[in-house]
Amino acid sequence: MDTVTTIDAVRSKVRAWRAAGLQVAFVPTMGNLHAGHISLLAAARDRGDRVVASVFVNPLQFGPSEDFTRYPRTPVEDERLLVEARCDLLFAPEVEEIYPAGGKQATLVSVRGLSEILCGQFRPGHFDGVATVVAKLFGIVAPDVAVFGEKDYQQLLVVRRMALDLSLPVEIVGAPTVRASDGLALSSRNRYLSAEERARAPLIYQTLRETASAIGAGNSDVRTLERDGLAALERAGMKPDYFSIRTAADLSEPDAAGTQLVVLTAVRMGRARLIDNLRARRREGAPEG
Ligand code: PAF
Repeated sequence: MDTVTTIDAVRSKVRAWRAAGLQVAFVPTMGNLHAGHISLLAAARDRGDRVVASVFVNPLQFGPSEDFTRYPRTPVEDERLLVEARCDLLFAPEVEEIYPAGGKQATLVSVRGLSEILCGQFRPGHFDGVATVVAKLFGIVAPDVAVFGEKDYQQLLVVRRMALDLSLPVEIVGAPTVRASDGLALSSRNRYLSAEERARAPLIYQTLRETASAIGAGNSDVRTLERDGLAALERAGMKPDYFSIRTAADLSEPDAAGTQLVVLTAVRMGRARLIDNLRARRREGAPEG
């Protein structure tokens, strides 16, 4: 694996691969890699002749009171895991390489609507930061395929919509969430949990599962299911930002005819803010609640 830090170095590598007719698959990350990221690399390997990963903690997607400075950075371990996952090229730029104008980036990519709901309500500007950096990385790497985790479901839809609206020639692939054996979705932010919080955290997935199976069993009283989910998390001492049932395709409020749904939540526990989601299938013809 080659590790490069400049845009020019990425471009010349990828140009040579393209000239040789090779397909390029890309996995953007913020580092501190775990088994969830490794599964994204495996999905990229399946789809590309060459795999590029980026490790870049993107300041533009963190709010002023968020965890940009303390976000875990583990570059040596990341490089080792990427070699093991048979990544061909690691792009690990400094902030100045991506934002040469410092904080004065005048151009932002904003996926309106989709970026303002759910997590967007609690993290204003977050998805503009994500869409902007992902658009820049796509411009740098020029991949045929890019892989994103379904754990960040709203992010996946934001990126998909951005690629569609900007006619970017890249296929966006979603890869399934990887979970610990007790159900907790793997996340770099799990390391902010104390031992006691970590022991309680699987309740997030349990609550999503209970809600998704109630929907599957024919309960279509969305408001009550959302209220019950929120209350279950609160009873366990968590502070949920939201617990919401939405249409899987576009995160709109489900209508009577919609069958493909997704249950999403964001929960604050101690120093951590954790997100998770689960797809749910509503039986056709179930009455609206
Ligand atoms: O999911 C992430 O790690 C980040 O939001 C991403 C997509 C790498 C953009 O910074």
